[in-house]
Amino acid sequence: MSARYQVTGSTAVEISASIESGIRTAALPPGAALPPVRALAADLAVSPATVARAYRELRERGLVATAGRHGTRVRPRPPVAARRSALRPPPVSGLRDLSAGEPDARLLPSLGPHLAALAADAGPPIGYTGGGVLPELAEAARARLAADGVPAAELTLTGGALDGIERLLGAHLRPGDAVAVEDPGWANLLDLVAALGLRPIGVPVDDEGPMVAGVAAALAAGARALVVTSRAQNPTGAAVSAARASALRDLLAGSPDLLLIEDDHAAELARVPLHPLAGATASWAFLRSASKPFGPDLRLAVLVGDETTVARVAGRARVGAGWVSTVLQRLVLGLWRDPAVAALVDRAAASYDRRREGLLAALTERGLRAYGRTGINVWVPVPDETSAVTALRDAGWSVAPGALYRIAAEPGLRITVSPLDDADITPLADALAEAAHPPSPRGFTA
Ligand SMILES: Cc1ncc(COP(=O)(O)O)c(C=O)c1O
Repeated sequence: MSARYQVTGSTAVEISASIESGIRTAALPPGAALPPVRALAADLAVSPATVARAYRELRERGLVATAGRHGTRVRPRPPVAARRSALRPPPVSGLRDLSAGEPDARLLPSLGPHLAALAADAGPPIGYTGGGVLPELAEAARARLAADGVPAAELTLTGGALDGIERLLGAHLRPGDAVAVEDPGWANLLDLVAALGLRPIGVPVDDEGPMVAGVAAALAAGARALVVTSRAQNPTGAAVSAARASALRDLLAGSPDLLLIEDDHAAELARVPLHPLAGATASWAFLRSASKPFGPDLRLAVLVGDETTVARVAGRARVGAGWVSTVLQRLVLGLWRDPAVAALVDRAAASYDRRREGLLAALTERGLRAYGRTGINVWVPVPDETSAVTALRDAGWSVAPGALYRIAAEPGLRITVSPLDDADITPLADALAEAAHPPSPRGFTA
């Protein structure tokens, strides 16, 4: 690395600023190794403690990670990138992209008619005093949550699920605190935890959600918060079952100080019942985002929870962003109320199920283990992610390497089924079988 990018500086602040600048300009790309502390200290004629301080500061802000003997490296998606697009490998023309984790754009409601209805009924401009959660939106959200058994007396809105999680973690935790997260789990959440200077503790997941022994171990290791994906867990498709919810509730009852965050992002798209943990601890929050069923550009999530937790999030927002635009709230309300949109979301849910289950069945037939109980992704364990990703690329498919989603979980691939048509399933399963079980190399003496 140092041959290509010369870190400069004589104080910890200057050294970390120099490295940050290298990351920002992509001279130090994701995964780049930083020099060992002692080598850089000798290079810059400073003490090792100065370099160690610079690395610690970068680590606490989520720009770099230190992994024992693998040294310190730039994180896969450090929170200083100028452009998000710079963080993803450039699209290779001719490849089918199953790496994005996007909902199927063909199955998202078209906003045109709803925006036209809003325009026709715009009313007078809203000022600062008119902002806040619209009572009619709160009422509709409460009814939708009550139907799923989630207590929703206290409610606020955030700019999506991840924004809600950031606000919750920021309101309850301090840098250095530990957060229990699913492993494998949502890459954006791992990046957020790193960016907030928090310590992730991985909790193993199976088809029924976070495993009880893993949550117990995370609690014993001092986790101050736990983030659980209710359904369509990313990347494995897990959904919290009734039995798992009951066991987790029992366990969490012994941890009254834990902040429990539930992320029900798939919501209307998940065709399995919700088994909420809401209320199992004194501090809890349940988030439901509009992104997956209605479109990621809507940037709106409903957040309910105990009185103190909701008041902290809403109160902090009041002295910052203020509120989620009432224009957006009215648009989302219009989508919720439109029976044609509800029918489209149902069709989307059925279509994701068909494609996911089709791929799982084809993989099972080929002797591959794969997971995807709900949602838009399938997780396929493979012995070697790099060679599997490369083999698939050669066969015309782009998939996401599991490294983005893992802490200690076994290697795997995440495959998003949204872009797949039924006819793609057989060739994709053939390519996956080939990529996951590459022919063993021939020895010279065979
Ligand atoms: C686990 C999980 N939660 C939430 C979301 C949606 O987040 P947001 O509401 O911030 O768009 C996603 C999107 O991929 C997700 O995978």
